[in-house]
Amino acid sequence: MQRGVFITFEGGEGTGKSTQIARLGEHLRGRGFEVVITREPGGTPVAEAARAILLDPELDPDPLSELFLLAAARRDLVERVIRPALERGAVVLCDRYTDSSVVYQGMVGGVGREAVEEINRLATGGLVPGRTFLLDLDPETGMERTRRRNGAVGGRSRFDEKPLQFHRRVRDAYLELALEDTVRFRVLPAEEDEETLFGRLLEELPEGLR
Ligand code: TYD
Repeated sequence: MQRGVFITFEGGEGTGKSTQIARLGEHLRGRGFEVVITREPGGTPVAEAARAILLDPELDPDPLSELFLLAAARRDLVERVIRPALERGAVVLCDRYTDSSVVYQGMVGGVGREAVEEINRLATGGLVPGRTFLLDLDPETGMERTRRRNGAVGGRSRFDEKPLQFHRRVRDAYLELALEDTVRFRVLPAEEDEETLFGRLLEELPEGLR
């Protein structure tokens, strides 16, 4: 039985997902909810090990290999962290989830949507978020933000290195997904300043958290 609320955040590079997640976590904790914040790929030792492989600029797995690594990481995270938290009644905020694989590996990477959706179902046991926020941003702005961030903290991931055209396709694919499921998705314009964006996000929280 699932009593908690599962919220995911999706979007391209530099859209400010992690900032909004941290703010929302603080907001909800202030209102007395147990909040679990996690991210994909990652969030458990097994999944963080898979993440290191996935983001290593020295390695070059093809999109189907990426999908299997991501699926292993996802299953571990769902079984050990997300599902137990939801069963306790917590709010789970996850930075990327199944839609990232549908977009990056399935639609842009060429693995195909159906294959990715099937693997996602296997990996998650069919666990679907109650709400997904898509932070939508012009990829040029997003990449510029990512460059500045990486300049500050050092290190670039394999995905940051892809050409602008790749990031444009990622944006279009996300918008297509969001249009198909307007019950689960909310698209938020991420060029807004942090405060305005957060205000809009609060308005779109699922019932029970508002
Ligand atoms: P990360 O540094 O966490 O980027 P971001 O801050 O943009 O979330 O790197 C995660 C990268 O992994 C990101 O570029 C997208 C990619 N990814 C996939 O390709 N498929 C997936 O299923 C997931 C979860 C991530």
